[in-house]
Amino acid sequence: MTDRPAPAPGFSTRAIHRPVAPPVTQLPSSVPLYQTSTWRFETLDDFAEVVAFRKPGHVYGRGYGNPTVEAFEAVMADLEGTEAAFAFDSGMAAIHAVVTTLARAGDRIVTSRALYGGTHSLFHEVLPRYGIDVTTVDVSDPEAVADSLAGARLLYVETIDNPLVSVADLAGLAALCAQAGVPSVVDNTFASPYLCAPARLGFDYVVHSATKYIGGHSDLLGGVVCCRSEARGSIRATALEVGGAMQPLEAWLCIRGLATLALRMERHSATGQRVAELLHQSPAVAVAYYPGLPSHPSHAVARRLLNGFGGMLAAELKGGIDAAIRFCDSLEMAWIAASLGGVHTLVAHPASTTHRQVPPADRAAQGLADGLVRISVGLEDPEDVVADFGRALAAAAD
Ligand SMILES: Cc1ncc(COP(=O)(O)O)c(C=O)c1O
Repeated sequence: MTDRPAPAPGFSTRAIHRPVAPPVTQLPSSVPLYQTSTWRFETLDDFAEVVAFRKPGHVYGRGYGNPTVEAFEAVMADLEGTEAAFAFDSGMAAIHAVVTTLARAGDRIVTSRALYGGTHSLFHEVLPRYGIDVTTVDVSDPEAVADSLAGARLLYVETIDNPLVSVADLAGLAALCAQAGVPSVVDNTFASPYLCAPARLGFDYVVHSATKYIGGHSDLLGGVVCCRSEARGSIRATALEVGGAMQPLEAWLCIRGLATLALRMERHSATGQRVAELLHQSPAVAVAYYPGLPSHPSHAVARRLLNGFGGMLAAELKGGIDAAIRFCDSLEMAWIAASLGGVHTLVAHPASTTHRQVPPADRAAQGLADGLVRISVGLEDPEDVVADFGRALAAAAD
């Protein structure tokens, strides 16, 4: 018998198995994008050790770790001043994971009155279905907050709230939570870690919709929770079973976005201030909301806590909903669109869009008038942004 060489692998086998990245001897300038859902093991035993977190390694893309995602988590933890971070595929997935990791049936959570509409629905419609009660509190009233915290499972607030851009006194709230032994959670989306790092003020969990300023270009969805290492382990345990972990391409884009976050926030803040002053002085506007305006009730807190006032503002048009419609429809450069925090200037009408889920009575309690327009100031030339809003204000006044 002659020893015949094994037949060469077929076309498909070669196409599938031959691509192996060559080992590298230098570090690249950008974090490599590990666009893979699964990872290989030399032995079954290795797989069993890594999947049980007894040995470092990567297993599968649903939160078991990916180097690109881990690089994003590491830079977020660094910028927010926390031990660790865990990244999600949306801000809502991040918020859901924190709250359901901390609270269970029979628990009660405390939240600020003003919240992003999606968060409001999660808290007031979804969580009660699972036996979690929600108490709403005026977070500018320390006594009311202290009373509401007794027996609560967590406090949830937004650094700069959506859409009236009130700034919570985070240091005071964190102290009240520490006294009561209640975990504190803050949505830092509108501020970004450049304007505020709430963990440095005592908050336990800092969540973001990375979709907004962190990504910064309206081309991805993402979320992240920054917290202590032990807490990250518990949140990851939720995400492994529920789903919603961030994927590598989004992490790669977020890392790239963070590189210019400081520059972008400076420009958002500078143009935001100019637009806010324009709105404040306009006869077509009943109230202009921007933490950088001395007329805003949170101005003093904002000056103390924020490293700039950001790119989010709101204006209540004197002519109510009709004027709001004329204002938005007259914009030539700014777009009418969902989301915020990107390079384009965007406007939205909270009562009919971002906060449509909030019942009218709750909207009124939050001060969300039907004539309110929310503005996310982009990175276009400031003169063009101001000119566009000037034209729209004239149309709204007609
Ligand atoms: C303040 C705030 N938090 C959370 C979210 C939810 O984020 P995502 O859309 O990434 O799920 C949003 C979305 O607009 C938001 O504005």
